Amino acid sequence: MIDFPTDRTTWFRDARFGMFIHWGLYSILGRGEWVMNRERIPLEEYKELVDEFDAGDFDPREWARIARDTGMRYLVLTAKHHEGFCLWDARHTDFTATRSAAGRDLLAEYVVALRDADLKVGVYYSLGDWSQPDWRKAVTGDPDAAVRFVEWTHAMVDDLVTNYGRIDVLWYDLPQGLTADQWRSVELNASVRSRQPHILINNRAYTTEDLATPEQSVKAAKPGRLWEACVTMNSVGWGYNAYDPDWKSPREIALLLARCASGQGNLLLNVGPEPSGRIPERARTRLAEIGDWFSLHQEALLNTDQNPLSWYLFGPTTCRGNTLYCFLRNYYGTSFVVGGLTNRVKSAELLDPRTSLDVAQRGPQTIVNGLPKEAPGFLPVVKLELDGKPDHDISRDIGFADVFPDLP
Ligand code: GLC
Repeated sequence: MIDFPTDRTTWFRDARFGMFIHWGLYSILGRGEWVMNRERIPLEEYKELVDEFDAGDFDPREWARIARDTGMRYLVLTAKHHEGFCLWDARHTDFTATRSAAGRDLLAEYVVALRDADLKVGVYYSLGDWSQPDWRKAVTGDPDAAVRFVEWTHAMVDDLVTNYGRIDVLWYDLPQGLTADQWRSVELNASVRSRQPHILINNRAYTTEDLATPEQSVKAAKPGRLWEACVTMNSVGWGYNAYDPDWKSPREIALLLARCASGQGNLLLNVGPEPSGRIPERARTRLAEIGDWFSLHQEALLNTDQNPLSWYLFGPTTCRGNTLYCFLRNYYGTSFVVGGLTNRVKSAELLDPRTSLDVAQRGPQTIVNGLPKEAPGFLPVVKLELDGKPDHDISRDIGFADVFPDLP
């Protein structure tokens, strides 16, 4: 088994799909991870939640199994969110899972479970921290507090990347309030990379680093740059949201994944476990459906390239070599048209259920016929084998990238 790709970014480019996990004391209140801040809960009162946080159903092997069954290759867990509570046995604060009712180093268990399942290990670390008086002073303009807080932050991050073996992704958040210079981000990341040379770091400590991280939207980074859209499964909150009735359908999630793939990016799909650590039922049922769809359509999603030349009314596309995959977001019935393709189509096939299709080519119109009248499944995919790499007559294109900044 080759575990160390020669290029440290290869695994990420090929992964396509990961699970984001927001889990902390806020999960107990069930109103999302911003609850302490938005409801102005006093810190001392909030901290009492540690006595309730018992992680009774926390089973990272199950998280790993669910992620794998869904088609995901990596996870990113909130080791510390903005509330400041640490899921690991942090050395520079007492506000930790080891000193909660759980009494365990939950991050350590997560890391081992993921490695055993051959999944990549991502760790989220919030730079901003509502539990630290120095952070509050720092962001309201006290320069001495800022210096102290940043010193503490460097020590915390060092702790995190030193004591758990290989970490594949470091995912910062909430840099707001201080500048990159104040965070000493360049120095911080150089130090992280000296501990973990292969690590991928996101762009949220106000430096470019390895990953662009569009949030709740699918925006491709410029070619050659790794990117990952992070999106919630329910409407807005990332932490467990017991009261949100608005969940995305499996179709909406599959479409997000297809749109990410069409721009050669990844989808980091969020799950907010219940306070006990259990993945909620509504997330499980959706992940199971996505997993079924993924397993039947993965050839259209994995190791694919961006189809650089055009966009289509039916939905997104991906390609690999001489193969073009069409995701039929809009299902027009028995046929659809790929406009402007200059290749000859050698064969066409619906991926699920596997059905070969007829193709008629008339000048710049490639007409695919023979599909079922009703859409077979929530996001059907048609595979076209071409006589060369996808090529288009672009004479009627008008620089769509400027017109459609989000991927179609
Ligand atoms: C937003 C939220 C934060 C969440 C993050 C994930 O910044 O405020 O709570 O962790 O998105 O990208």
